[in-house]
Amino acid sequence: MIQYAIKGGTPLVGEVEIGGAKNAALPILAASVMTDDTVYIENMPDVRDTKVLLCAMESIGVMMKRTDRHSVALNASNINSLVVDDESIKKIRASYYLIGALLGKYKRAEVALPGGCDIGCRAIDQHIKGFRALGAEVTIEHGLIKTYAERLVGNHIYMDVVSVGATINIMMAAALAEGKTTIENAAKEPHVVDLANFLNSMGANIKGAGTDVIRIKGVPSLHGTEYTIIPDQIEAGTFMFAAAVTRGDVTVKNVIPKHLESITSKLLEIGCEVEEADDCIRVVSSKPLQHTHVKTLPYPGFPTDMQPQITVALALSQGTSIVTESIFENRFKYVDELTRMGANIKVEGNTAIIDGVSRYTGASISAPDLRAGAALVLAAMAADGYTTVDDIQYIERGYEDFHLKLQSLGAQIELVETEKDYQKFKLKTG
Ligand code: UD1
Repeated sequence: MIQYAIKGGTPLVGEVEIGGAKNAALPILAASVMTDDTVYIENMPDVRDTKVLLCAMESIGVMMKRTDRHSVALNASNINSLVVDDESIKKIRASYYLIGALLGKYKRAEVALPGGCDIGCRAIDQHIKGFRALGAEVTIEHGLIKTYAERLVGNHIYMDVVSVGATINIMMAAALAEGKTTIENAAKEPHVVDLANFLNSMGANIKGAGTDVIRIKGVPSLHGTEYTIIPDQIEAGTFMFAAAVTRGDVTVKNVIPKHLESITSKLLEIGCEVEEADDCIRVVSSKPLQHTHVKTLPYPGFPTDMQPQITVALALSQGTSIVTESIFENRFKYVDELTRMGANIKVEGNTAIIDGVSRYTGASISAPDLRAGAALVLAAMAADGYTTVDDIQYIERGYEDFHLKLQSLGAQIELVETEKDYQKFKLKTG
């Protein structure tokens, strides 16, 4: 089994280039089926989730050409099936973006029910409510969501919960519906705005993305475009916290500092220095880390996808901190692994009460999901001694070349496959 082998204790120092946002790339790739023209996408992260989605799109006849690792040309003029039932597609959450995209263009879609990280109940009632409000029939049969509409007609849709996925899915279908759609209580995440910008660059008429009311005037068809995906807020935030926990000095490059405000403000609160420039942020961690409280919230609040990373930092901070998870109810599963590394954390419902300890010690641990997996790697880099991390396929879902980027900052981390590889790593780093 491939694992990360990590020797902790080295402060991370240097600059790291942040890639395109996974959570923007997924809906943008899916939305490229909404035109018969060719769509050129740049700054696409080369991670497992985008690869799985591209494979599923290929399986229904989308033609694609990778011009380099981060650029792809897509042409959906010869789609031969509206049924996406690829085995691998069930593993990624974003499979459901193909429903909104195909329903908008072809008024029909059948897509395997989504999987994704096991971080709590991940309902899709708001997606279904939105499709129905636009006039589609929606049923769930044999593990597929089946949608069909004679006509899609714009409507006023109030979202009962703020949902990134539902906002995106409804926006895609409504872009090609007849008349006007209003989405109230919409998600405001940067990737929602990026998808709206992408659709507008294809000729859609979407206003208000980034606020909680999105207004869409349906258009009859969309055309080709060239589009560059925004930088990944969560990858950037993860490296910023890597600097904090290893007492390092890291500059994340190619970022949009505005998207990182909630993360920056917590780093300042716990005692890091943060310097912002136009498209980069430097984090220096030279003083003992201090406790704080944090509650995850929809954007512009502190992202749930950064909750494990800040918990890893707070568990090494002086004093008692409280982390409240308000988006997903099952997102503290990694705490058991962190406890095995010496953390002192008590979880009660959606709250973690953290008594800071002065150090972690290396252990043999597993990544329970994507973001928690990355957070545990940060803990391992801050720990005394050696750690192995299993189930790194979760981490590869959303981080491109994670261990290589960490190595470039001085981390002692390698991929190992056998006990012999691990012993070699220990000899080399001992
Ligand atoms: C997306 C992100 C994920 C991030 C999350 C919150 C992608 C591929 N994934 O997930 O990384 O953690 O946003 O920022 O972009 N809900 C319902 N009914 C629905 C839909 C959602 O009750 O129909 C609830 C969910 O159970 C959850 C909350 O709404 O409690 C937020 O979920 P949502 O914003 O939809 O998350 P995802 O789009 O799945």
